[in-house]
Amino acid sequence: MSHLSPLLKQSSDVIAERGEGCYIYDAANRAWLDFTSGIGVTATGHCHPRVVAAAQEQVGRLIHAQYASVKHQPMLDLADLLSEHLPSPLDSVSFTNSGSEAVETAMRLARQATGRANMICFHGGFHGRTVGAASMTTSATKVRSGYHPLMGGVVFAPFPHPYRYGMTEEEATDFCLRELDELFVTQTSPCDTAAMMIEPVQGEYGYWPATTRFMQGLRERCDQHNILLISDEVQAGFGRTGKFWSYEHFGITPDIIITAKGLASGFPVSAIAAPQSLMEKAWPGSQGGTYGANAVACAGAVANIHVIRDEKLVDNAAERGKQLRGELEKLKDEHDFIDEVRGMGLMQGIEIVDDQGRPDGDKAAALLKASEHEDLLLLRCGTHGQVVRWLPALIVTEAQINEALDKFKRAIERT
Ligand SMILES: Cc1ncc(COP(=O)(O)O)c(C=O)c1O
Repeated sequence: MSHLSPLLKQSSDVIAERGEGCYIYDAANRAWLDFTSGIGVTATGHCHPRVVAAAQEQVGRLIHAQYASVKHQPMLDLADLLSEHLPSPLDSVSFTNSGSEAVETAMRLARQATGRANMICFHGGFHGRTVGAASMTTSATKVRSGYHPLMGGVVFAPFPHPYRYGMTEEEATDFCLRELDELFVTQTSPCDTAAMMIEPVQGEYGYWPATTRFMQGLRERCDQHNILLISDEVQAGFGRTGKFWSYEHFGITPDIIITAKGLASGFPVSAIAAPQSLMEKAWPGSQGGTYGANAVACAGAVANIHVIRDEKLVDNAAERGKQLRGELEKLKDEHDFIDEVRGMGLMQGIEIVDDQGRPDGDKAAALLKASEHEDLLLLRCGTHGQVVRWLPALIVTEAQINEALDKFKRAIERT
């Protein structure tokens, strides 16, 4: 009997022994092409030699130096390096360990800085599993069920999901902006609203990019009412969508950025970024934690960012994303059970439906299992687990995308 919690379920039966680039190996040296990237984490692939070397060097020098008592160089270097990728006027960075923790830090900052309580979040958003983050999450009830009462002060506005609403992008955008304005006069007046928290490209709900007019509409309303706009870039940031931050696709700049996952390619470090003048409005002692900005994690993250830059991985994500998207569109044309292809860059999902056009999580699960037999690892998302998602490391090559598609085509034949 395994002593691991039965709730920590895996989507595959693989027991990973080691990882290299886009591949995961078991103890018998069988290789799987990993198009999960540990849920979008391993931006520079598994065990990039420069990331490994930096962490190994740091682990023998200093592992833990708590940031409430001392500073350490990897943390300072990471803050400086990260700031080079931040839009003006965001020039101040605070570190935590996970995406959820960073989400909570951003929310706390927004509430303290504005003196207002309410958060506007968007239908389908996923922000994490801790109470505050789960309270702002509506990607699936499994994140919230049995956990009530959740945190108060959260209201939800619709997010443009044209496919789900049976609308065009323009119609969905109009509808969502109209409902947002309605929210201000029915549920949370602007003077009670601290921030809007949004994933510009929704992840867990099924890979849904927002529209430009919608994001610009949020920015306008935030400016008009002194509400903070928070971009949750935990999954879509760090180059995954073909731009460094996913909000860049929509011609807006947020007031607070939340980042994790691709930031350190596997080390548990997350961050929020905001203008110094805003950060200073947070109350003393309100940011931090025992393990935040761990020295080894920061050293790994610094090397990781250098690799992303030197190997031009954001450009690669854009290029390879185009290739992947084109091939997935062709697959959709060939198979009725693929109803839509969505996403941006190397964050692509295919919506799997039954012969009545309903979301088909069972079929998507069968496709994943068959892919595993073909030595390809994929993941699912969406409320019904009906979206097969493709999120390889940003180092993925043209040949590896083709290899993954060939394996998936064989998996379709098996299913
Ligand atoms: C957009 C987004 N925000 C927040 C989180 C929570 O991050 P973590 O699982 O590290 O707490 C996730 C995790 O998938 C995410 O995708």
